[in-house]
Amino acid sequence: MTDLDPIGLFFGGMEKLGPGRDADTVQVLRSLPRERFDVVVDAGCGAGRQTLALAKALGCRIDAVDSHQPFLDSLGRRAAQAGAASLIHARCMDMKDIPAVFPDIDLLWSEGAAYNIGFANALVCWRPAVRAGGFVVVSELVWLQDDPPPMARAFFQACYPDMKPMAANIAIAGDAGYRVLGTHTLPREAWVEGYYAVLQPRAAALADHADASVRALAQEIAKEIEVFSACGGSYGYVFYVLERP
Ligand SMILES: C[S@@+](CC[C@H](N)C(=O)[O-])C[C@H]1O[C@@H](n2cnc3c(N)ncnc32)[C@H](O)[C@@H]1O
Repeated sequence: MTDLDPIGLFFGGMEKLGPGRDADTVQVLRSLPRERFDVVVDAGCGAGRQTLALAKALGCRIDAVDSHQPFLDSLGRRAAQAGAASLIHARCMDMKDIPAVFPDIDLLWSEGAAYNIGFANALVCWRPAVRAGGFVVVSELVWLQDDPPPMARAFFQACYPDMKPMAANIAIAGDAGYRVLGTHTLPREAWVEGYYAVLQPRAAALADHADASVRALAQEIAKEIEVFSACGGSYGYVFYVLERP
């Protein structure tokens, strides 16, 4: 019996589990044509960096959904430290079940997480849960260049073959029944600060770990960061700001 937890080894204690920054979260939030929302759900919240940013900016209850309880525990601790515990309601569940649990959402937020159930599938699945005139804000990894470098193409062909050009997702959102209000591309710093800057030394320290699965994850993370350093401009995280008519 082992208590080895590779996810905890690499991601434990991190406030963000993917690229993102509070400044970008708030900038996108402020781009919405409404300022107050009754029901706000953060899908795939992880440790909740953006959950806390949303709670602070909106001052209202946020329902934070994730399928990994240790991340929600981390969010709970950080919400208490920030004096925002009363605003954050964490729920360990699959994001595909959101319509059954939250049928009347005003704002459904999801940063770097929708891909887990497929970007297009997530938009179709969540639409019935969003009130007419409500919003879905979802960030997704996309190609920013038509002809990305072979190194980036090969890497993502192996680990995210469904990755689309930025414009293709606009068409997907339209087909799923949303009006696209805008997009926002995360800057390079949002990948590095508090994310790759934390992961890179962890991956280096775990590269020779006794457990093969830990060594493999260390290698994968190191490769991902190498690809980003060499070809980061050819792809990126894009927020799609959508309204349900
Ligand atoms: C890359 S992390 C992003 C977390 C957070 N939004 C952030 O930017 O820091 C993706 C998150 O989605 C969660 N997740 C994966 N599949 C899920 C599912 N089917 N339902 C709910 N959460 C899921 C993971 O546990 C993880 O916390």
